[in-house]
Amino acid sequence: MTDHPTNEALLDCAVAAARAGGEHALRNLDRRTEVHASFDHDVKLCLDIECQEKAGNVVHANFPSHDILGEEGEALDSVNKNKGSSYQWIIDPIDGTVNFTHSLPNWCCSIAVKKDGQTVAGAVFAPELDELYTALTDGPALLNDRPLTPSTTDKLASSIIMTGTNENSTPGLSRFAMFEAISTHVQRPRIMGSAALDVCRVARGHADGYFEAGIYVWDIAAAALLVECAGGKTDTLVENSDHSVIFLATNGLIHDELRGVVEGLLGTR
Ligand code: IPD
Repeated sequence: MTDHPTNEALLDCAVAAARAGGEHALRNLDRRTEVHASFDHDVKLCLDIECQEKAGNVVHANFPSHDILGEEGEALDSVNKNKGSSYQWIIDPIDGTVNFTHSLPNWCCSIAVKKDGQTVAGAVFAPELDELYTALTDGPALLNDRPLTPSTTDKLASSIIMTGTNENSTPGLSRFAMFEAISTHVQRPRIMGSAALDVCRVARGHADGYFEAGIYVWDIAAAALLVECAGGKTDTLVENSDHSVIFLATNGLIHDELRGVVEGLLGTR
């Protein structure tokens, strides 16, 4: 395949890779508790690594010279080795691993591709929900080929905000401090356990916004493009060298209000 593919060809490959990763996990549900490593409040499954390999193999079968940044990079030789390509694929093989291992169907495989640092295509595939989210820069955001639009909620006080709590949350704040603080400004906060799907739900209008500190780029890269293409707004407030970010996504209408609250809490305002 050419080294200068069209964005459409990149999206086709992203969909194929997301399906390869997601379907491998789906075929192996009976192995969902096989642990590669466990940590306080988190787990890495053998299937996380296998699904990363399945998805990465699809990318490299089509585009051997492209770089891959993946959540499971440490376990695989083909991932996170910089070849100096202007294309970078960003893979989260199973986003929502804790849900997956506990049999909650809210998990997905997320694939984004950047060209010269800009995300140009993204696919998020949730096999047990039968949901395939796709977006192409300057194109629509789609769920199973149907266009998505964000909600019309225009006040933070009337909004549902998705979030998560993770081990590297916000420096200086306890795991739940940010959650508690945001709760006081919104109608209801929600923690559903898959950042990629949370952000897709903002694109879809099922949630009005999403915020998390300490999330990684592979969790949100594809879904962020979905939100932008649907007409919403995203912001990466901080990006660290370990690829963790402070990130928010909204329907656009409550963006400044949510960003103001977050910046106030982070002390960056
Ligand atoms: C996790 C999920 C969760 C978020 C965590 C992430 P993983 O991703 O997206 O919703 O709150 O911060 O680490 O580990 O299941 O890919």
